[in-house]
Amino acid sequence: QLPRRLALRGDLLDFTGMPEWATIETPAVRFRPDHWVLIEDGRIVGAQPAAQPPDESWERHDYRGRLVLPGFIDTHVHSPQIDMIASYGTELLDWLNTYTFPAEMCFANPAVAHAGAARFLDALLESGTTSAVVFPTVHKGSAEALFAGASARGMRLVTGKVLMDRNAPPSLCDDVVKAERDCVDLIERWHGVGRNSYAVTVRFAPTSTPEQLQMAGQLCAAYPTTYMQTHVAENRDEVKWVQSLFPEARSYLDVYTRAGLLYSRSVLAHGIWLDDNDRAAIRDSGAQVAHSPSSNLFLGSGLFDWNGAVQAGANVSMASDVGAGTSLSMQRTLADAYKIQALNGQRLTAWKALHSATRGAAQALGLEREIGSFDIGCTADVCVWDWARGLVAERRDQLVRDLHERVFAWLTLSDERNLVAAYVAGVKRHAADAATAAQQE
Ligand code: GUN
Ligand code: ZN
Repeated sequence: QLPRRLALRGDLLDFTGMPEWATIETPAVRFRPDHWVLIEDGRIVGAQPAAQPPDESWERHDYRGRLVLPGFIDTHVHSPQIDMIASYGTELLDWLNTYTFPAEMCFANPAVAHAGAARFLDALLESGTTSAVVFPTVHKGSAEALFAGASARGMRLVTGKVLMDRNAPPSLCDDVVKAERDCVDLIERWHGVGRNSYAVTVRFAPTSTPEQLQMAGQLCAAYPTTYMQTHVAENRDEVKWVQSLFPEARSYLDVYTRAGLLYSRSVLAHGIWLDDNDRAAIRDSGAQVAHSPSSNLFLGSGLFDWNGAVQAGANVSMASDVGAGTSLSMQRTLADAYKIQALNGQRLTAWKALHSATRGAAQALGLEREIGSFDIGCTADVCVWDWARGLVAERRDQLVRDLHERVFAWLTLSDERNLVAAYVAGVKRHAADAATAAQQE
């Protein structure tokens, strides 16, 4: 399936560094209109203008007039929750009990977990997301199904079985001993195998006993190249609950710090209600906040202060947080992030937004040599997008005055329906319209 030499033609856009907050003129943007990106054995080996076409030794796919981006990276998303996405009427804690936990219970059945993982990974690809940091369920098989499914599709995946041993329905609770055994087994079988990495996955402080948090911290220390993912300071009632469960901790984040769960590979979803000390601790540890704007609006959790996090030096990446987020589309997610910053009295540039879902996320994960850009040597995860679809977006696209305006309008008006093709490690894994795609080749 893998063409040894593959060239894709289109308008190449990626980043060579970090765009400044609120600055449109920046050297970090690399726009190469009408270029070929060259891929050998699944890796990026170069790019050249359309006027210098690659020779016959290259399989050529011509997407001229279309936008070519690195595959998106979704740094926080729940695979079982596509079954209950768009559930009405609750805030976080009620939402978990009413909709989320019942949906996750179904994944005890291995056949359900297997089919659910496949559907979820296909849905990511259909949205132009080629890498993700994923919460499955407490069931070992749900993590295994994701690792196997991602391997079959060649995708970059970070996941691990969810740890929860209290304050949840009994059928969704593990215990410290069995959970540790399951984690070790999964780490030894999947971590670093192909493009898979294990993440020690603490659901959130309220659903783990202090003993389980300690065990999780010991796993992170014993396997220091694993990631750690959890939720923190998402909702005000949740924060109060954590205070009452862990009175000895200085803050919600401090519960994790004390257990040895805060380090450079920690991915902390939300972080809306953090204080200055927390932000400094995140900066010093090199961890990241997975900003989940769609989810934060949908559950009414609050308005994340992205600029405050940037000023504090904390890494921020972009996350759909489906099923509290209402779309796997990173454009929709970024458009929500823009609106949240607008409510905070700030403006999010298209560059800062796009970077957070590509090179920025890769960098925060320590994966910038593999994903997030068209740097030579990166794995060829490449998505091809229509600049505009439909009368409104087409009209707007004709009238833009500069590149930032064009990309901003694209981010704001497009979604997964604009996706033309998704290549994962140089293999075409998704084509919007197989017939059209074949014609173009
Ligand atoms: N906090 C604990 N579990 C969850 C979850 O599944 N989704 C969100 N948004 N927050 C959580
Ligand atoms: Zn979440």
